[in-house]
Amino acid sequence: MSTLAVYPGSFDPLTNGHVDIIERGARLFDRIVVAILVNAEKSPMFTTGERVEIARAVFHDHPNVEVDTFDGLLVNYMERRRANVIVRGLRAVSDFEYEMQMALMNRELAGTVETVFMMPAAQYSFISSRLIKEVFSLGGKVHGLVPDLVEQKLQERRSVRL
Ligand SMILES: Nc1ncnc2c1ncn2[C@@H]1O[C@H](COP(=O)(O)OP(=O)(O)OP(=O)(O)O)[C@@H](O)[C@H]1O
Ligand SMILES: [Mg+2]
Repeated sequence: MSTLAVYPGSFDPLTNGHVDIIERGARLFDRIVVAILVNAEKSPMFTTGERVEIARAVFHDHPNVEVDTFDGLLVNYMERRRANVIVRGLRAVSDFEYEMQMALMNRELAGTVETVFMMPAAQYSFISSRLIKEVFSLGGKVHGLVPDLVEQKLQERRSVRL
């Protein structure tokens, strides 16, 4: 049996923390789908299409990493894809409570789906998309915290606004 893992999130934008988790998942599972949640936020920085394009470009050399979008209940998407593992990243205790609730709720909804948690490399454990957007919009450097392509897209956005 091959294991199809799904890594759901908003990825607005993709950070090196996400990349770290995806690379670990790609080594552990036969295939991992980066599943970008559509319409999670009312005013995202990047459109769903842009987020898909970025993730596909960053992982173009990883044949077992796929990028897709989903809407609605994750377990419905899992069933449609016949996927059996949900991958989530754990940065700190602060993630734990919410992640545990979600994992147990998803188990309630779909008993055969297992949630697997992974820790990122310590140097990425403080990164979140929200903080990246905040730091960047206030003029801070995000070099090394996001893929080069994301840094470039953020800079394009800034020069448009100026
Ligand atoms: N730096 C990181 N290291 C490990 N896991 C992470 C990291 N950033 C996010 N994750 C995990 O990735 C998954 C998807 O998260 P999400 O798309 O919400 O990213 P986020 O950075 O938390 O964004 P936001 O700040 O908008 O909530 C979650 O399981 C989250 O815990
Ligand atoms: Mg989050």
